[in-house]
Amino acid sequence: MNAKSQITVTFLPEQRTASVKHGVTLLEAVRKAGIVLPTRCGGKAGCMMCKVSVERTDAAGLRPPAEAEKRKLGSLLDEGVRLACQAAVWGDVQVHIPEDPLKAAVRRRLEAARRGESEDLW
Ligand code: FES
Repeated sequence: MNAKSQITVTFLPEQRTASVKHGVTLLEAVRKAGIVLPTRCGGKAGCMMCKVSVERTDAAGLRPPAEAEKRKLGSLLDEGVRLACQAAVWGDVQVHIPEDPLKAAVRRRLEAARRGESEDLW
């Protein structure tokens, strides 16, 4: 295999990028891009807090999942979900970082308030 030595990983929706070496985990790339992705298991495929997703067309940019990741994700793999701590970068790839659940809740409430849909904001 003639792998590129430096690979560009683009994280959506913020469009942040990291230039990383072939074979590093997505979690390392996330951190290099300055993105905080909470984890609890220390990258051992235990907590599932590092879930990210990739489009099917970008799947070749990551090493195929190993047994631990397959066991944890099951059918979510078919939806493009990967564990950042387990997925190794294989080529240029775009990765979707899910919105933090607390931030998402705040954003939804603020949007509803702006539309005048909620008098009970908090
Ligand atoms: S960091 Fe816990 S599953 Fe990836």
